[in-house]
Amino acid sequence: MDKSLNIADVKAYKKGEGKPPLVMVTAYDAPTSRIADAAGVDIILVGDSVGMTVLGYDSTLSVGMDDMLHHVAAVTRANPRPLVIADLPWLSYHLDKVDTVLNASALIKAGAEGVKLEGGSRRLEMIDAILNAEIPVMGHLGLTPQSVNMIGGFKVQARYQSEIEKLIQDATVLADAGCFAIVLECIPDTVAGEVTKSVKIPTIGIGSGPGCDGQVLVIHDLLGMRPKGPMPRFVRKYAELEVLASEAVAMFASDVRHGDYPNAQESYHKIIEEKGK
Ligand code: KIV
Repeated sequence: MDKSLNIADVKAYKKGEGKPPLVMVTAYDAPTSRIADAAGVDIILVGDSVGMTVLGYDSTLSVGMDDMLHHVAAVTRANPRPLVIADLPWLSYHLDKVDTVLNASALIKAGAEGVKLEGGSRRLEMIDAILNAEIPVMGHLGLTPQSVNMIGGFKVQARYQSEIEKLIQDATVLADAGCFAIVLECIPDTVAGEVTKSVKIPTIGIGSGPGCDGQVLVIHDLLGMRPKGPMPRFVRKYAELEVLASEAVAMFASDVRHGDYPNAQESYHKIIEEKGK
């Protein structure tokens, strides 16, 4: 399957001068992969957000390599045209260089074209090791959900000058190391604009305003398939699929209970043999 964009195309992409922002969405299985492909997005992220959207956890910390491999394989079996990037889950790239490269390569063997990991200069050694194995790396700065306990919750980051300077420094380190793009999560819009101007690789924002080179949303959020309750302000819901799906299942339940399902057309019938044959 020809890819809409390859890693080198993305690495050189900066929006503006007639170039629209890049579009990335998450996908976790064959149906969401087909949906993202049919919608013509540029990049599919098999995010460790799968832990919260699909597996029912409260954070991404319970997601392991086995989960990621299972979901990356399901996404890529649908042969989507967008580039497929997979998250390295928590602790899969923190401890040991050899394990880190083996984990990243397992995601590639499962069908991803690159991996994403969270953190800045602290992760440089592991990023170098992965890049040395010829595996493209996408960075992730700002609110990094795998650090939720260190941060003290899912909060907007880089609001103060010292944090802003550190963020710009980290973005520069990632770009200089050879990352092909950086996700900027939940940082002030002007800060995201500054980071975007200061690096040659594209920034892809989530909750970071319109100044980034691209935007990403979690597919379950934009389709309205999340538990009821407050959503972050940056989530724009384009559909209410969970409500629609519940209504459809309730109609099926009612039809069964009233004896309206299945009808004759929905049933198989025995063949009546003709006499004498
Ligand atoms: O796991 C994920 O879905 C992500 C996005 C929020 C960027 O990392």
